[in-house]
Amino acid sequence: MIVEVKEQQDVRQLVRTLVTEKGHEKAELIPILHDINSALGYISDEAIEELSERMNIPSSHIYSVATFYRMLSTEPRGRHVIQFCESAPCHVAGGRLVWQKLQQELGLSNGETSEDEKWTLLTTSCLGVCGVGPVLVVDHDIYGNVTPEQIPGILGNYE
Ligand code: FES
Repeated sequence: MIVEVKEQQDVRQLVRTLVTEKGHEKAELIPILHDINSALGYISDEAIEELSERMNIPSSHIYSVATFYRMLSTEPRGRHVIQFCESAPCHVAGGRLVWQKLQQELGLSNGETSEDEKWTLLTTSCLGVCGVGPVLVVDHDIYGNVTPEQIPGILGNYE
C-alpha cells in the first residue's frame, strides 16, 4: 500500500515512528526499509538520512542495502510493481512469449516505470514456484501458468 507521505517532515516522522516501533538494532534495518518502501513506494534520500540518524548507521551503508535488494527501490516506482520470473524453468515453460506480451501491453522495458506512474516492470530470478511457470507477481499477487493471452486480463485487475 502506498500512503500519502510526500512531505519531507512526514517522511522523517514515518521513519521515527518505525524505529520507535521496531527498535534501532541493526537487525531491524531491512524490515524498516521494507516498511518505508511500502509506505512511500520507494526509499527516499530523506528517509535514508533520518534512518541514519535514528539508527546510528552510515547513510552509505543504508543506501547499499536499499539498492542490493530487488524488492526495495531508491527510485520512485509505479503504484503496481510487476515482477516477472526470468529464470530457466519459467523460460522453458513459455516465459519468453509472456515477457514479450507484458512489455508490449505496458510499453515498458525491464526496470521502467510508466509515465502515469501506474506500473513498474521488473524481472526477477526464481520465485520458488517453478512448477507453475511462467510466473509473474503483481504487488503481492502471484500468477502461475501464465500465457500471453492472459496478460491483458491480469493487468485489468489493477486500478
Ligand atoms: S524459475 Fe520461475 S519461479 Fe522458479
